[in-house]
Amino acid sequence: MSHVVQEKWSSGTAFLLAAIGSAVGLGNIYRFPYVVGENGGGAFVLLYLGIVIVFGIPLVMTELTIGRRRQVPPITAYTQLSEGKKSQPFWIFAGYSSVITPLGILGFYFVIAGWTLNYVFKILTGKLSNLAEGDTQAVFADMMASPGTLIFWMTLSVIITAFIISRGIKAGLEKAVNILMPMLFVILLSLVAYSAFNGGMAETFEFMFTPDFEKINMKTLLEATGQAFFSLSLGSATMLVYGSYLPKEVSIPKMACGVAFADTFVALVSGFAIFPIIFTNGMELNSGPGLVFETLPVIFDQMPFGNVFGIMFFLLLAFAAITSTISLFEPAVSNLEERGIFTRRKASLVVGIGLWCLAALSALSLNVLSDWHPLAFNSTLENKNIMDLLEYLSANGMMLVNALFAAIFLGWIVNRKESLEELGLGDSWLFKFWRSIIKYVVPPIVGYLIIDFLGYGLI
Ligand code: PHE
Repeated sequence: MSHVVQEKWSSGTAFLLAAIGSAVGLGNIYRFPYVVGENGGGAFVLLYLGIVIVFGIPLVMTELTIGRRRQVPPITAYTQLSEGKKSQPFWIFAGYSSVITPLGILGFYFVIAGWTLNYVFKILTGKLSNLAEGDTQAVFADMMASPGTLIFWMTLSVIITAFIISRGIKAGLEKAVNILMPMLFVILLSLVAYSAFNGGMAETFEFMFTPDFEKINMKTLLEATGQAFFSLSLGSATMLVYGSYLPKEVSIPKMACGVAFADTFVALVSGFAIFPIIFTNGMELNSGPGLVFETLPVIFDQMPFGNVFGIMFFLLLAFAAITSTISLFEPAVSNLEERGIFTRRKASLVVGIGLWCLAALSALSLNVLSDWHPLAFNSTLENKNIMDLLEYLSANGMMLVNALFAAIFLGWIVNRKESLEELGLGDSWLFKFWRSIIKYVVPPIVGYLIIDFLGYGLI
């Protein structure tokens, strides 16, 4: 049924950069530090690391395998690999579900990507300099209250993303990550060096790695798993589609370890870039999402060379965001193109316009539509506006569901031989270990988390 021969990454390294680019995003630099802050530090970090190792790496392997096995886009991959099974219609549905989820994520992600672009501009034009106490809150609040500003910068992030996607794998995605990822690493490491120079490292170390196990409960477990899945780009067709472009000779287990390692490294290093600045300046940590957009600018304004580092910091966020938005945008385009419904360029345009509308609603839900709670009939969702809903349902709920589908699919439905050949581990203990995890460990635990998620009043 395929009308188009899929392009491939030019090498394992090209894939690795793109997949790390996808994984490293707002989830690492913007969200991870404040979630760690909200959940009390060390215990959460250790739990997070455990989840990445036990579930994260095996699930990245799983999704890459489903994607690469037939080298076709996600929905077709589910369709072809379940050929001849009675449950095939269900798996086709799972394919759709995994392709729709990243669109929901982009509905809010594009808006935040827009904030980061706007902050690069603000800091470059001196709007974040010489501030008095409380001014950064006002700057942030002004941005949030202005539909025009939010929509302008969100539109820019949609255009950049759709443009990169429209150029295809090698000339678009690969070229973008080749430029952005090295810059991202240089900026990140300079920021840590700057932070280290200004003190606060010992406190950061203690905060991040001294566990207080009393702080761990079901809710933290759910939160840490959600954060890990989000950060590793699981449950959203991204790894399926990036896997489908992976040349056959590249080792999936190695790639999965590389992605998980780099992603976790960046999350931790972001903590080491941000927390010391907060500690040495005696600021509060539990400020939630305001950490990056309200607290940090105050400090950048006061520190020596703070402006330069401020610019670097927001550029870092913007680069990280764009290399992730492209990976969320690609699955839908890849499916549309393969089915011959649109050329890649038209598909990028159509998906871009659709997502722009959704993201515009999200942006407006921060101001003029803030009182519109579309799912108010449900007690958990009654106070959520569009942007909150998109985040809650796609990033917290659907990602878990899709990751569970992928594990059950490859563990229980698809013939063992398919993964055996694809993973290249032979019939070794490592292969058996991986398979036991996705067959017996992931389904009950992730299944339980989903039930628990639903239990927070969704049903
Ligand atoms: N991993 C990205 C981040 O941490 C977000 C993402 C989720 C990207 C799912 C692709 C798929 O920001």
